[in-house]
Amino acid sequence: MPFGFVSAWKKRRRSKSHDQNESWTYKPVEYWQLGDQNTPSKRPYGSSVFTLKEMEKATCSFSEENLVGKGGFGRVYRGVLRSGEVVAIKKMELPPFKAAEGEREFRVEVDILSSLDHPNLVPLIGYCADGKHRFLVYEFMHNGNLQDHLNGISENKMGWPLRLKIALGAARGLAYLHSSSAVGIPIVHRDFKSTNVLLSANFEAKISDFGLAKLMPEGQEMYVTTRVQGTFGYFDPEYTSTGKLTLQSDVYAFGVVLLELLTGRRAVDLNQGPTDQNLVLQVRHILNDRKKLRKVIDPEMSRSSYTMESIVMFANLASRCVRSESSDRPSMVECVKELQLIFSTNIKALGS
Ligand SMILES: Nc1ncnc2c1ncn2[C@@H]1O[C@H](COP(=O)(O)OP(=O)(O)OP(=O)(O)O)[C@@H](O)[C@H]1O
Ligand SMILES: [Mg+2]
Repeated sequence: MPFGFVSAWKKRRRSKSHDQNESWTYKPVEYWQLGDQNTPSKRPYGSSVFTLKEMEKATCSFSEENLVGKGGFGRVYRGVLRSGEVVAIKKMELPPFKAAEGEREFRVEVDILSSLDHPNLVPLIGYCADGKHRFLVYEFMHNGNLQDHLNGISENKMGWPLRLKIALGAARGLAYLHSSSAVGIPIVHRDFKSTNVLLSANFEAKISDFGLAKLMPEGQEMYVTTRVQGTFGYFDPEYTSTGKLTLQSDVYAFGVVLLELLTGRRAVDLNQGPTDQNLVLQVRHILNDRKKLRKVIDPEMSRSSYTMESIVMFANLASRCVRSESSDRPSMVECVKELQLIFSTNIKALGS
């Protein structure tokens, strides 16, 4: 068994046989068909197993004051553990017909995040699988999600250097997932988007939500599925039309987030007319036109924080990330290198 926490979970489970109607046997190797590949035994995160009582105590019985957000999986609460550590507790709340899917996402999240270790991924502290209840416990990200800072509740709009720092951090996180250093084989995130880029107290980008992640078996550059999953607005058109999932599907979604950083607009804005709802379709044709490009730069961004040269380089990178053909898109490693260059070009020119 690759991870020791499973036995701890089982022990706890045995002592709580009431309210149990299905068993969760931890079978990551069979599940992912990893064969004999050597997966690293290091498991820095996700080792704590909590009871429902502990989750209730940490969140003052899931009080409204502690509610920080709501997503497709359920509500997210701020909580304080007995140790004093501040955490984010994600409570699975799904209608019965979605319960099996939710259970699968829960296990994928625990399985994958427990074996990952990178400064640009949200650390999983532990989980609770008490009876039918499911919770994921993460390190608390004090500055919430990126989308809220760009076009949501946040009042202070970010300057260009901070946006570049966030883009670079997210690129490094995705490059790590795509490399084989994470679990021995590349991982496609499959649901990369601005609400899944969380920001720490010092605005370090941390990628979250691995529930849809898929491991790519070695020698297999794509995975064919009949059910396309992810979020509208970030879908790789090649994946949508053919069902072929590749690492480049994440690069497409990353390109959409770059466009959100540049324009301050939403990936999909249902308040616009039918032809203007999709950000990529709205701006794709002008990304390499310096004059027109000026018109789509986020008007809320301080003019003194950017140079046009760095904006042009950034828009060019974004335009290549969102190309329709997945093979025409850069790799995440290339994105990291270009963003480093863009970052230093901007800083040097501004002399700060
Ligand atoms: N670790 C965390 N620290 C602080 N806030 C968090 C944390 N995890 C999630 N949140 C907040 O809770 C919100 C809801 O998160 P959740 O992942 O459930 O949904 P989502 O990403 O917005 O949408 P979807 O379910 O479609 O992926 C996030 O947008 C974020 O603001
Ligand atoms: Mg999320």
